[in-house]
Amino acid sequence: DVKKLLVLPGDGIGPEVMREVAKVVQWMQTHRGLKLDIAEELVGGASLARHGVPIRDEVVALAREADAVLFGSVGDPAWSHVGFDKRPEVAILRLRQDLELFANLRPAIVFDALVDASTLKAEVVRGLDLMIVRETVGGVYFGEPRGIETLADGTKRGVNTEVYTTPEIERVARVAFDLARVRGNRVCSVEKCNVMESGLLWKEVVTDLHKREYADVELSHMLADNCAMQLVRNPRQFDVIVTGNLFGDILSDLASMLTGSLGMLPSATLGGERADGRRHALYEPIHGSAPDIAGKGIANPIAQILSFAMLLRYSFKREDDAAMIEKAVSSVLESGLRTVDIMSDGKAQVSTSVMGDAIVNE
Ligand code: NAI
Ligand code: MG
Repeated sequence: DVKKLLVLPGDGIGPEVMREVAKVVQWMQTHRGLKLDIAEELVGGASLARHGVPIRDEVVALAREADAVLFGSVGDPAWSHVGFDKRPEVAILRLRQDLELFANLRPAIVFDALVDASTLKAEVVRGLDLMIVRETVGGVYFGEPRGIETLADGTKRGVNTEVYTTPEIERVARVAFDLARVRGNRVCSVEKCNVMESGLLWKEVVTDLHKREYADVELSHMLADNCAMQLVRNPRQFDVIVTGNLFGDILSDLASMLTGSLGMLPSATLGGERADGRRHALYEPIHGSAPDIAGKGIANPIAQILSFAMLLRYSFKREDDAAMIEKAVSSVLESGLRTVDIMSDGKAQVSTSVMGDAIVNE
């Protein structure tokens, strides 16, 4: 059956790395019977330049209809002086909101060939493969009341409120438990139940759901501050970590640096079930548009290619094809090929397109 794929390259290095994904897609269509109906659209600064808005309603509608969205990155210094609703970054914010993409999946994988790129000692991170599931549409970034108010004596008060409801916690926990079943079968739920009511409820709901539906998965709980420490001390103790918006934001950035390079890391954001039983899903590298290296043809395409592998795995249920791409990336790294961001002494330095070609050949 034919799957609808929406490709949104965006700005800066986005289109450059997406060109390499296109080679992989082409190969999969020719050799693996992948059948796609592909649409490509402008977003971010590219859309602002052509249409005057960071994302058109038509493009949002296409995203809603698509089986999956492959996103590049948005952000362009040329548009940094304009008001908030005219910033390129609004494109991704709007997609997250409109597709209700509530679960962000960020793997932290250390490839053997790149073990020395980690900020930690090789013996601590060798073989690392963990997944952080972050709730993305609720929590303290969105809770009411919020705002800055001036008190009678002139003192100002900045207010944010962390709010989580039972269904919000359950649906993201479900994603984590389902993932664990096809990975290492372990979930660590992270909150601050010692000092926060929302954390207390979080722990209760996860524990409850686990008892009812996921007793076969090993569940543990950890306070967020301890989790930060444990991620640096012994990251391999984790399989899947599930946590709220704020802690997930911080812990997933921390975890990404365990692997060494921004150019290597994919992500997925999954939304709710639709009427037809499918799920909205968007896949993107965690890096941005990298204006400092855009146009030079030297960006690392691996994060974007691995994002496509995640798409094959989670949206199209093509595990074998996803694993094949990951294996090819791993082999190419073993062979010593390096883009500039993952260079270490004595290794070849190759362009974006040479790296892409090598992965396709492999
Ligand atoms: P960035 O991730 O674009 O770049 C940070 C540093 O990493 C730069 O030195 C860059 O050259 C390098 N880098 C990133 N990806 C690379 C790759 N694939 N290969 C080689 N080197 C790579 O983050 P920055 O500079 O903070 O943001 C630049 C723009 O991107 C901003 O406008 C920002 O808002 C936007 N951005 C967009 C995101 C998205 O579309 N979801 C996510 C993060 C940032
Ligand atoms: Mg962040």
